[in-house]
This record gives sequence, structure tokens and C-alpha cells, in this order.
Amino acid sequence: MSSSTLGAPALERLVAAAVAAPSLHNTQPWRFRFDAGTRTVRIHAAADRALRHTDPVGRAVHLSVGCAVLNLRIAAAHFGWEPVTRLLPCPDRPALLATVRLAESVRGGPSTGLYEAVWRRHSSRFPFSGRPLPSDVLAELTEAAHLEGAVLRFPGYDDTDRVLRATWEAEWRNRADSDRAAESRRLVRAPHCRSLGLASAALGPQDTLDRMPMRDFGAHRHSEVLPARAFETHPTLALLSTAHDRRTDWLRAGQALERVLLLATRRGVRASLLHQTMEWPDLRRVLGGLPAHGPRGHAQMVIRLGYGPEGLASPRRSVEEAMEGEM
Ligand SMILES: Cc1cc2nc3c(=O)[nH]c(=O)nc-3n(C[C@H](O)[C@H](O)[C@H](O)COP(=O)(O)O)c2cc1C
Repeated sequence: MSSSTLGAPALERLVAAAVAAPSLHNTQPWRFRFDAGTRTVRIHAAADRALRHTDPVGRAVHLSVGCAVLNLRIAAAHFGWEPVTRLLPCPDRPALLATVRLAESVRGGPSTGLYEAVWRRHSSRFPFSGRPLPSDVLAELTEAAHLEGAVLRFPGYDDTDRVLRATWEAEWRNRADSDRAAESRRLVRAPHCRSLGLASAALGPQDTLDRMPMRDFGAHRHSEVLPARAFETHPTLALLSTAHDRRTDWLRAGQALERVLLLATRRGVRASLLHQTMEWPDLRRVLGGLPAHGPRGHAQMVIRLGYGPEGLASPRRSVEEAMEGEM
């Protein structure tokens, strides 16, 4: 790819990388626009794709868009551009969440090897082996989150138990909340809608031991939809948090989340997300206080990590559908 001009195929590749990012219930709540004059990709929140019951303040929209921004940055650097990112660049346009300008790269940046992981990363909701992650991998993942301005902690045995219990509480509340359950069910049961929804095969089983609070996505535990299997009894959970809780922090947390997930993919580590607690402010505060004697933070995501089957790909909207205006 030329480093001075950007043709349609190159732009297509950059946006496709962004679209491969994870998002709450695979809503893909983003819209891209390219300004050829300034060689800038603008990333907007797509209001029509937000989940107003599950994510009333839009925190998860920002997290999801943050993931897409990280992928775009990784792809831009891979093709020899220097991505210059601004978060919330226009106070009078709140839906414009970020811009990424493709500047000339003064030096060929070192390859992080994360670009390939953009295409290979999928949520794996299957049981993991229980084999612990090596300490150097834990340290690398922690550093990856730190690079993007977030904190990644690995709770000990007791705190892991607390996280699981809070997640179960949130999961039960979600199932009991008719608006949220309907919202979730609508997305899973939209097979006719290629652009939206999770592939039901990608949902994975539920835990026979009822220890791992895997998300039910409104399927209500019909065994033919969500068969049960035994999950790891000592899961490796990581808690991603930020020092503050502003919209920019949510966008940073998204970028940190995606950097952690890409690095995990590169190291052969599978991951799935447990976001239920983040959807109930009181439970989210409980997680922000872990560990009890550490500094308080704002919890942004619980990540389950381990070794096990690769996740299955979920559908995505096409680049054309995600772009506003001409490519
Ligand atoms: C903010 C956010 C919250 C999410 N919450 C959950 C969750 O609670 N449970 C889950 O299994 N996956 C969760 N996911 C993962 C999405 O369901 C997943 O990214 C999406 O279905 C696309 O699939 P992929 O990750 O395999 O590309 C979440 C993702 C994001 C960005």
C-alpha cells in the first residue's frame, strides 16, 4: 500500500479491520466516514444500534467503538501509516467519538504482530482447560492495558469468587428484566438479519456446575439451544478498570480491552467477556473496589482467559454498510 495516497481497497481494509472488533451483543454500534482531504477516518456512534435498556448511558457503545479504534490503528500502522487519534474531538458533536488521521510514517514502526490477530480473534464461550496462564503472559497482558491508559488486574481466589457471584447476580437480574431480556433475545434470534446478531453456534454451552455465569442472551436455558458442559473450576479472570469514568475513559478502556484480546490471541490464549456486572451500577461499584486494599477504580470489563477451543466467527455488517457516504 502506498504511504502517500489511500485508494478504495486500502480504505476498505482499514474499515474491515475496525468492523472485526467485538461489540456488546455484536451490535456494531459504529459508523465510519472518510475525509480524503485530511486523510482522516471519523468514527461516529450509531444511535440506532444502541441497546437502550441494557446500556442506557452508552458506556458499552463507547467501549465497543474503542475496540474498533484500536483495530483501525493497528491496521493503519501495519500498512505504514502513523495513526493520529483524537477522542471526542468536537464537543458540539457528541456522536463523533473519535478521529484517526493517517499521517505519513516517519519511520517504519515495529511490527507488533497484532494485525493478524485482528482477523483471528473471536470470543470463545467454551469451557477452558483450567491450565493457568504463565506469569510472563499475565505481565504482557497487564502492560498492554497500561499502554492504552487502563489497569488490568488478576484477582486472587477469593476476589475471583466475589466477581463470579456478582456476575451471577447481574445475570439473574438481566434474565428477570423483561425489557433487557427481550432486547437480548431480539439480537440472538435475528438469523434473517445478516448484519446483526450473534451466530447461535457461537453462544457456547452453559456451565453444568452453575459456577461460570455465561451469558444466556435471552435464550432462557433451553438445553437444545445452550447445552450444558463443565467449565473450569478455577477460572482466570482479569478485571479491566480505569482511574476515572468519563466518556474518554470508556473509549480508552475499549482500546485497552482490544489490545489485551489481540495479544491474548497472538499468545494462543482464548477469551470471553463477562459484562453483566457492568450493566448494574451497584454491582459495578463492588468490582471497582477490588482488591479491598488496593486503589479504587472504575470497573469496565471482566475478561475470562484460558486455553481451549477457538471461538467461532460471528456475522458482521459489510464495510459499505458501516461507511457513511462514498468510499
Ligand atoms: C462492551 C462489550 C460487552 C460484551 N459483553 C459480553 C458478555 O457479557 N458476554 C459475552 O459472552 N460476550 C460479550 N461481549 C462479546 C460480544 O458478544 C462479541 O464481541 C460479539 O458477539 C462479536 O463476536 P466476536 O467477539 O467473536 O467477534 C461483549 C463485547 C463488548 C465489546
